[in-house]
Amino acid sequence: MGVSRARLGGPCDPLPCGKWGPAVRWFFQNARNRLSFAVRNPGYALRAVLREVTLADERFLASATGARAIEIRRYLEEPSSDPRFARHLAEGQRTFDELKLTSADIYAKKVLIQYVVTRALRPRRVVETGVANGVSTAYLLLALERNGQGHLDSIEIGDPEYLPAGRAPGWFVPEWLKGRWEMHLGDSRVLLPELMRRLGETDLFIHDSLHTYEHMVFEFRAAFPYLRSGGVLLADDALWNPAFPEFARESGAKLARVIRGVGVLRKNGR
Ligand SMILES: C[S@@+](CC[C@H](N)C(=O)[O-])C[C@H]1O[C@@H](n2cnc3c(N)ncnc32)[C@H](O)[C@@H]1O
Repeated sequence: MGVSRARLGGPCDPLPCGKWGPAVRWFFQNARNRLSFAVRNPGYALRAVLREVTLADERFLASATGARAIEIRRYLEEPSSDPRFARHLAEGQRTFDELKLTSADIYAKKVLIQYVVTRALRPRRVVETGVANGVSTAYLLLALERNGQGHLDSIEIGDPEYLPAGRAPGWFVPEWLKGRWEMHLGDSRVLLPELMRRLGETDLFIHDSLHTYEHMVFEFRAAFPYLRSGGVLLADDALWNPAFPEFARESGAKLARVIRGVGVLRKNGR
C-alpha cells in the first residue's frame, strides 16, 4: 500500500512528477524554512535554482560514483516515495516538532547527498562518524537496504547537547533498518583508527562529527588510506574551515567539490 504525498504533509501533490519532479517536490518539504532562507540569501537561492535546472550537482555526483545523472535524480526521490520510510519521516517530523528540535532538518538536501552517493556507489562497507539523533544514519541504512547489500559502522561520542532528554544516540533509526548497522560509542580519535584497521578496505567514509579543522583532518587522514580506489569520502559542513579543500589537494584527488555544504571527494583510480 502506498502512502500519498499528502500524508507526508507537503503541499506537493499537484506538482509534476517528470524530470524536475523530485527537486521541486523536495523543495516543498519544509518549504517555509527554505523560502525564508531564500529571501535572506537571494544570490545563494538563485545559484541553487540554476544548479537544479542544469543538473550540475547530479552530473558531478554521477562522475564521482560511476552512475548516470538521471539515476542520481531518480535516487533523490526515493526516500520520500518509499512508503515505509516516508511514514517514518512524517512521524519523526512530528516528534522533532514536539521536542522542539529545530536544529535537525530531516528533509535537508545534504542528507540526500549521502543517500544518493550510497545508492549510486553500491558500497559493501560504509563508515560514518557523528550520529546524534541518527537522521543521516537512517538515510544511509535505507540506501543500503535498497541496494540489497552493504554494512554501516557508525562512531558517536554521545554528546547530550545534540539529543533530547532521555534519548540515546541514533534513536531516530527505525528498527527495521538496524540489521546492517553497528554503532560504536566513543571518541573517533580513539575508535576510528582502530575500526579502520579492523575493517580494512572501505568504499565510503562520511565525516559528520566534530567540525574543527584539526579533527576533520585527523579523521580524513585516518580513513582515507583504507578507502578503495574509486571510493568516496564525504564531509558534512565542509565549508566551516579549509580542512576539506586542503585535504583534497593533499590526497591528489581529481574529483572533489562541495555540494550543499557537503564535501564530496573521489579517491583516484578505478
Ligand atoms: C552534527 S552532529 C551529527 C548529525 C548526524 N549525522 C545527523 O544527521 O543527525 C555531530 C555529532 O558528532 C558527535 N561527535 C562530536 N565529536 C565527536 C568525536 N570526537 N567522536 C565521535 N563523535 C563525535 C556529537 O556527539 C554529535 O552527535
